[in-house]
Parts: sequence; structure tokens; C-alpha cells
Amino acid sequence: MASVREILSEMCSEAFAALGYEGASGAVSVSDAQQPSDYQCNDALRLAKSAQRKPRDIAEEVAAHLNGAQDIAEVSIGGPGFLNFRLSDAFLTGHLAECLKDERLGLEKAAKPETIVLDFGGPNIAKPMHVGHLRSAVIGECLKRLLRFQGHEVVGDIHMGDWGKQMGMLIYGLEQRSPDLPYFDANQTHDYPSKAPVTISDLEEVYPRIAAACGEDETVDAAAIQATAELQSGRPGYRALWQHFVDLSIAEMKRDFGSLGVTFDLWYGESRYQEELAGLVTGMKDAGVAEVSDGAVIVRFDETKNKELTSPLVIQKSDGSFLYGTTDLATLRERLTEMNADRVLYVVDQRQGLHFKQVFDAARRWGIAAEKELVHVGFGTVNGTDGKPFKTRAGGVMKLRDMIDLLNQEAHERLSERFDASDDPAHREEIAEMVGVGALKFADLQHDRSQNYIFDLKKFVSFEGKTGPYLQYTAVRIKSLLEKANAFRPNPNDLNPLTDEERALMVHATTLNLAVDEASRQYAPHVLCKYVFEMAQKFNTIYQKHPVLDGDALHPNGEARLALAALCLAHITLVLDLLGIEIPARM
Ligand code: ARG
Repeated sequence: MASVREILSEMCSEAFAALGYEGASGAVSVSDAQQPSDYQCNDALRLAKSAQRKPRDIAEEVAAHLNGAQDIAEVSIGGPGFLNFRLSDAFLTGHLAECLKDERLGLEKAAKPETIVLDFGGPNIAKPMHVGHLRSAVIGECLKRLLRFQGHEVVGDIHMGDWGKQMGMLIYGLEQRSPDLPYFDANQTHDYPSKAPVTISDLEEVYPRIAAACGEDETVDAAAIQATAELQSGRPGYRALWQHFVDLSIAEMKRDFGSLGVTFDLWYGESRYQEELAGLVTGMKDAGVAEVSDGAVIVRFDETKNKELTSPLVIQKSDGSFLYGTTDLATLRERLTEMNADRVLYVVDQRQGLHFKQVFDAARRWGIAAEKELVHVGFGTVNGTDGKPFKTRAGGVMKLRDMIDLLNQEAHERLSERFDASDDPAHREEIAEMVGVGALKFADLQHDRSQNYIFDLKKFVSFEGKTGPYLQYTAVRIKSLLEKANAFRPNPNDLNPLTDEERALMVHATTLNLAVDEASRQYAPHVLCKYVFEMAQKFNTIYQKHPVLDGDALHPNGEARLALAALCLAHITLVLDLLGIEIPARM
């Protein structure tokens, strides 16, 4: 369906053309809340110079033309020559009724669907996931849903860190702890136990200890580097042990991401590309993109062309090892050439900005990225009240799992005030989880992703204010209203703007397409959050003043308000689904 903006825009361009004005853009935007109009167009101001007329005169001419020719909107002039549109009630309600009958609420799919690879999550094997991974997962999941909704084919890849030095550190750390395990016997080359010799908590305990030791003691560090090199060159016992680490970690990740409702299509990791790295480096040298410098192989950038590229990208160190960027180039090559992606998005901490600029620039010069769109969708950090990255009370990194548990507990407490003792505890638990996770996700998504924000448990789980639970609760309330009013099925054709507030809600509902477009163009979930929060607020204000049901009967005007409730619920449901937030059965 054409959106209101498109309809008005076409109308404007036609009017300008009919009156002999060349080059009108027809750009129509939503008026801000202070304006008496719903939408507006600035073309008269834009054309005044070339037409050598006063903008107001042009606007008046166009307004007169439009007012005689259509009954969609009343056109007036504002300021120096804005065309202001106030939608007619008949058009407004008719348009929304049509949207409400459509399961996509009238939103069109992209004219040119693309294949998009979405790199998000990015956890590292055997290192506990932390809040940085939370942001990537939550934002990435939302973008995946949003871009799919728009008709793109989106492939989500977790791109695990499963090959770096931390693997050698773990192997060495474990060897120190249990040297008798068959994996460390250099003479044994097969027949390793199928059951892992450690649990994930063992790994989580070994890792920080050995990481600290590497920092303090050069011999430990050298041993970890040696173990990494042996793993990478294929020592069978180390490979077998590594496979256990990977399997254990993946099970853990599936659990944590699962409770956040985050899923991936591909579970590829950095290790997938190791065999090709040597060839890649040679290829880039042959192509003249990379060069040898002090024994290392590097890609130099022309700082005069792009002043952000301040340092070269090392793709092979002088000791022969490959780096993060080498793997990223190999991964990108697979995505662009074998998976035929038109676009590749990386939802990764913005502190890795330089890395992605280097990788993208190197890929373009290498010739694998012509006409492809490569975007680093960066995000800020989650901070504590001290303004520094969020830590546990003990000062350590807050694990993702603990964070989820914290939220769920808080939600549980809030809900226990609302539920009575007869409630099934399992059911209550399930709802608390939906509310806790919804609170966490909304708190993250509602911030402009490039900004840092402060972790504030109580605020996130509050049932009031711009929170997940507020939206979930609004949806639950509307659902229960519609259930109670079941005898009077809401009919989209009953929509009727009885008060200014109801009309404002309806006009807001005509802008869903704008929010969805902007959110996907800018990779900005917070735009959807703002849209849906405003919708819920508007509804709650109306509902407080104008109850719909009077016992079993409808209040006067109940039909119109029931239809409005259905409209509002449909919008909240659609947007929360794009955000990846579930609506509980009750709250
Ligand atoms: N594992 C990395 C980290 O924890 C994130 C990976 C992001 N994706 C990529 N293709 N580099 O920082």
C-alpha cells in the first residue's frame, strides 16, 4: 500500500508540475508536534529562486490548486511558504482501516531485495560473554528481523573468536593443571576420549588465571604462544582438545543467546578460514595491495585520501602468524564471492572502528568488494553509575548470564506484587523471564546505538516510563480489553477520531513506515523504540479518560475506541516483534 507520505508527495509533485513549476522534489515530511498540520512540504521555498517568485505566492497557488482537486487533506500555508496538510478524517480513517486489515499494516517490502550477511554476537570461545556481546546480540537480532521484514534475505553469522591466542592460553593452562591427559602426550595422535575432560566452568576458571599469568610472566606467555602455534599447525592432541572447548562453549552460547531470543543461521568461527590465509597474503602481495615491511606483510593506506586510515593493516607478522584482520578479509571474501552478499554488516563495538575501515579499504583495493556495501554498525559501551564500563560489585566483568539472571530476578519481584498465590509458579517464572529479557533488550535498543548508557536495573524493569515492561504491559492491557469486549468484535471501519488526542494517535499510526524506513536506513533500533513508546503513551492517555467497557456493555463511542485499541495493539505487536521483544500472556 502507498503510505500517506507517498500519497501526499505524489499529489504535490503533480500539482507543482501542473502549475508549470519544474523540479519540485515532492518531499513531504511529518510536521512536528507544535504545528497545526500533520504533514508538510517545503518545495515552494526551494523553487522560489529559480521561479523568481515569492515562496508564499507559489505556495498559495499550489494550495488553491490542491484544495480544489482532492479531498485527502486540507492545505494551508505556514510561515514563509510551507505547504501544510491536515488529513481529512475520512481519508485518515479509511487509510488506517485498510492498513489494519493487512498483516503488514500496509508496509511495503523493499523494491530491490538484497542478500545481506549480518555479522553479530561475536563471542569468543571459552571466555565468558559480557555486556559488549549483549549489545551486539540484541542490536543484531533486531536488525535481522527488521531487514527480513523488509524482504531482504538476511544471513546471520555469529563469527566466533575460536582461533586466537586465548586457545593456546587455555591449552597451556590446562596442561599445567592436568599434564597426564592424553591430549598432551606428543606421541599419541588419535583415539582421544569423546567426553570433554573439563566443564565450561573449569574453562572459565582457567582462563582468567592464565591470562593474568601471561601478563606477569614472559615464560608463561611464550608457552601460550607456542601452544597456539602448535594448535594452528595441527598438533592432533591440541586439535582434539580445542574441539572440546568449542563444543562446550557453543552449548553455553546457545543457552545464553537462546534466553535472549537471539538466533544465528551460521555458527562459523575464525578457524574456518585458517587454511586460506597463507594464499590470501600471497594473493594480496601479487595484486600489489600488500607489501613486505620489516619482515611483516602489511597493507598501507593513503592518508591523503582517507585521513581516518592512520596506520597500516598488518596481515602477517614477521613470525609468520596471521591476525584478526587477515581472518576478516578471508571471511569477507567468502561472504562476497561465495555467498553473493550485496551488503555485509558488522554489529561490533565502535572501538573497533579503525579495524573495519582498514579491512573495508583493503578489500576494495583488492577488488573483492566492487559495488558492495560494507558497514560497521558500531555501538557504545554499557557503563556503571561511575561512568566506566559496567562491572560486578567485586569489580570484575559482568557476565552476560549473570546479567540476564539479575534482570529476571528483578522482574520476578515486581511481578510477585501483582500475582496472587494461586498462580502456577512455573508460569510466573516464564512471564518473569519475558519481562526481564524484554526490559534488558528495550533498555539497550532505545538508546542511539552510538551512545554509551548506564546500566540501571530498577529503571529498566520499571512498569512506568520508557521501558520494555511498560510496553509489554500496555499490550497485555489492550489484549485483555479486547478479550473482555469479545462480544463486540472491533471493526477497523469503526475508527473515528472523536477527540484531538485520538486523532493524534491515528496520525502517528500513519508514520509507522517512516520509522521502519529510518530505523533500517540508519541501523537505528531506537527510532522504532521511540515510535512504539509514543504510540503506547498516546493510547494510555486516551484510555484513562475514556473507558471502553461499562461492565458488560460498551460505553457510548465504545466501537470507535475498540477499533482504536485494536489499531494500537497491532502497531505495538508489530514493532515489539521487530525489536525481538515478546509479549507475555498476562502481567
Ligand atoms: N570476537 C570479536 C570480539 O569479541 C568480535 C568479532 C566481530 N566480527 C568480526 N568479523 N570481526 O571483539
